[in-house]
Amino acid sequence: MSTEGFVTIIEPFRIHSVEPMRMLTRAEREERLVEAGYNLFALHADDVLIDLLTDSGTGAMSSEQWAALQRGNEAYAGAPSWFRFEAAVRELFPFRHILPTHQGRAAEKILFGVVGGPGRVVPNNTHFDTTRANVEATEAEAVDLPIPEGRDPANRHPFKGNMDVAALEALLAERAEDVPLVMMTITNNSGGGQPASLANLRAVKAVCERYGRPLFIDGCRFAENAWFIKTREEGYADRPVPDIVREMFALADGMTMSAKKDPLGNIGGWLAVNDDDLAEQCRNLEILTEGFPTYGGLAGRDLDALAVGLREAVDEDYLRYRIASTKYLGDALQRMGVPVVVPFGGHAIFIDARAMLPHIPPLQYPGQALACALYREGGVRSCEIGTVMFGRQADGSEKPAAMDLVRLAIPRRTYTQSHIDYVIEVVGRVASKASELVGMEIVQEPARLRHFTAKFRPLT
Ligand code: F0G
Repeated sequence: MSTEGFVTIIEPFRIHSVEPMRMLTRAEREERLVEAGYNLFALHADDVLIDLLTDSGTGAMSSEQWAALQRGNEAYAGAPSWFRFEAAVRELFPFRHILPTHQGRAAEKILFGVVGGPGRVVPNNTHFDTTRANVEATEAEAVDLPIPEGRDPANRHPFKGNMDVAALEALLAERAEDVPLVMMTITNNSGGGQPASLANLRAVKAVCERYGRPLFIDGCRFAENAWFIKTREEGYADRPVPDIVREMFALADGMTMSAKKDPLGNIGGWLAVNDDDLAEQCRNLEILTEGFPTYGGLAGRDLDALAVGLREAVDEDYLRYRIASTKYLGDALQRMGVPVVVPFGGHAIFIDARAMLPHIPPLQYPGQALACALYREGGVRSCEIGTVMFGRQADGSEKPAAMDLVRLAIPRRTYTQSHIDYVIEVVGRVASKASELVGMEIVQEPARLRHFTAKFRPLT
């Protein structure tokens, strides 16, 4: 589908099956917020009108994927579904060993269960929360090394997901022995859904090679990252997306993947490695929690749906629409004067809650206050990515996160442009009374990953 100069975004699919949604009244939403302890993870999804909590596992499958489910073979070992899945993964990510898992964090748990441990340190452009938690659960240290531009929401660097190569070099010069692997998260979710360039990946790889350390990629949003490389990095405009993906992953020694994102699955993931010994140790752990290595916690039909999803994920009409529709939301918010992270990432628009609510200090969680307000105003569920998520330190103290963002994540192929127009209206209404919003305090929190279950109270 060529754009031929048209400005209207065409969703490159027709709707085939629909899922009704219902709208509560404002009073009902207020009640649900109180019941949920002002934690949007505690809402019933039926009480949410437009759910932008995450783009993970929330995409719509295609008719081809639904057809593939019917081909699912549920043999315990060596199912044809597994071989179709493995071939589809290897077509894009040519690693020697592919270990299916039920989702991305299971791959992380297995990997760091083998290579983590006390005294170890894992550098990443920015760890996603489950990655950090899985590193820290082994008592290893998780270090974020984004380029400085990546920490500045207003900076327009085209590849804000890049790693600070000099900082990596300095870390390795001092502690290479303690570093089991170097990780790159593409796109950099916690940093605003920002891509890394191939030039940066190559530079990171060169440093890794100099110190004899393996490079791993957290590849959840590999296709969106590849599209940004195609459209922003010199020399890639005419390269097919699958080639760009292969070039990115040829630089790595292994990967973790949540297949709930770009691979268009509702569940799934994998760990891939080249090293035979590492693969064997990981397989032994996989069997303990995921299952036999030819299904790894997934039904055969899930493996088949993913094999098809992987091919659809690199379709250029789809990716053009995907990135254009995310930009559509970002452009509209920017026109209304809402501070958003720029340039826009692939899977989400991130509102800079600290800039939008300067009267709420970071330790009163401006992102949480804004996320609750969007739900109260119009039933839109978003996600705080800021001090609630990252503020609690390993030593028990609390400090402001680098940024206080609210993520409007866009499920793949799920909402139409009019849904997004409605979201724009809701954000506009909240923005027009931003100065009336109040901060929050935490009244209850667990030891780790507190954002999922903490309870809050507005500070009146
Ligand atoms: N890595 C990144 C970059 C992620 O964004 C996620 C999940 C994971 C790993 C873990 O994968 O959920 O399959 O276990 N991110 C979701 C999100 C939850 O909302 O961004 P998982």
